[in-house]
Amino acid sequence: MALPVERGEELELEQIEIELLLEGIHRRYGFDFRQYAPASLRRRVRRRMDGEKVETISALQNLLLHDPAVMERLLLDLSVNVTAMFRDPTFFLSFREKVVPMLRTYPFARLWVAGCSTGEEVYSLAILLAEEGLADRVRIYATDINEAVLDQARLGVFPLDKMQEYTQNYIRAGGKRAFSEYYSAAYDGAQFDRSLVSNVVFAQHNLVSDRSFNEFHAIVCRNVMIYFDRSLQNRVHDLFYGSLVRLGILALGHKESIRFSPYADRYQELDADERIYKKRR
Ligand SMILES: C[S@@+](CC[C@H](N)C(=O)[O-])C[C@H]1O[C@@H](n2cnc3c(N)ncnc32)[C@H](O)[C@@H]1O
Repeated sequence: MALPVERGEELELEQIEIELLLEGIHRRYGFDFRQYAPASLRRRVRRRMDGEKVETISALQNLLLHDPAVMERLLLDLSVNVTAMFRDPTFFLSFREKVVPMLRTYPFARLWVAGCSTGEEVYSLAILLAEEGLADRVRIYATDINEAVLDQARLGVFPLDKMQEYTQNYIRAGGKRAFSEYYSAAYDGAQFDRSLVSNVVFAQHNLVSDRSFNEFHAIVCRNVMIYFDRSLQNRVHDLFYGSLVRLGILALGHKESIRFSPYADRYQELDADERIYKKRR
């Protein structure tokens, strides 16, 4: 006789199956999602099961171990690529007022945008830096775990129907020109001016497993660590701390904070509301 399975037990079994799935992905493809926040992982795995029309996690595992295209689709689900131009405009306003003057003090500065997704945040920062006369003096390194989103970022074509919202964001972010000067309608979308990204390097980089690749004057990593568990967040803080110059800037997303990390004491708050911090030493 089959024993009834309690709800709690069911969730525990599902958790074990997800852990096995993540282990398999890590061994087969090298992507390590084992320290991503469990609740968000569970939702995304279930969504991919629906998408692939399979009933069990082990069936999904079987599919994706044999078919890299399924892995690509799961990667898109797991990496949550939601983004926008001048997202949280007050952040950009603060960046303009508080970070730009610090960047100005360097003859040449490096800015790392980690987890840049499809590039909207990078183009926003590039516009802001151009308006502040820093386009030639700041190189942006824009990285993401996901090659597919980086390809989109390189193209710089964003949906035309978003332009109204982005124009509003741009104005609230302290934009100095007419937003429409930066793009032209093309390929069913808004093609952003190529010169904006002439000083941008797009590259794949995995915050879970890769090392730093340079020393930066500022790091912007917004709405990425929110998907990581505490120990992975600490690993990334360690990476960022080691990658910043003395007095370098770290900017996080509105729902993220340095406060509960072991690195809290090593930064000074430059703008607590906007989660902008300055490395002390
Ligand atoms: C929600 S988007 C944030 C995009 C942008 N920073 C913003 O705030 O609008 C999160 C991005 O983090 C990337 N990401 C997730 N895990 C990553 C990892 N381990 N290494 C690098 N990027 C990662 C995802 O691919 C995704 O593009």
